[in-house]
Amino acid sequence: MKIVIGSDHAGFEHKKKISELIASLGHEIIDIGTDGENSVDYPDYGEKGAREVSCGSAELGVLICGTGIGISMAANKVRGIRAAVCWNEETASLTRQHNDANVLCIGARFVPIEEAINITKVFLDTPASEDARHRRRIEKISSIEERSRSCDCK
Ligand code: RB5
Repeated sequence: MKIVIGSDHAGFEHKKKISELIASLGHEIIDIGTDGENSVDYPDYGEKGAREVSCGSAELGVLICGTGIGISMAANKVRGIRAAVCWNEETASLTRQHNDANVLCIGARFVPIEEAINITKVFLDTPASEDARHRRRIEKISSIEERSRSCDCK
């Protein structure tokens, strides 16, 4: 698989180790940065990483910031992205199965690297469920995105 990986400064160390894991599993990596611990803005990396998945250059993405939350918020603004913050193997497995999540987000300040590696392995290994109820719910998420392209508050 082609996997995009990205982080802000808070996730940089995790990104290095998770990249090694992904490469060792035989996947191709697109690394969109950041490339050091200088302070950067997580939305820039959330958007950039998510766009690689949205446009089909990568099948799945892994994005890391301090909490995993900010970068997931940015990624989820990109069309077709279902980014999920996961904090253990079970949430990683369930979000692949039930939500067909296409971007994994990890909070480096809260998830130790060993756990982050296990979470990533599970996320990459778990297929999305074909079960009709899960597909229907994912379709509903897509239709929210469609309806939100123009203001429909009223
Ligand atoms: C950076 O200090 C921090 O705000 C960022 O990594 C992330 O946790 C935001 O959600």
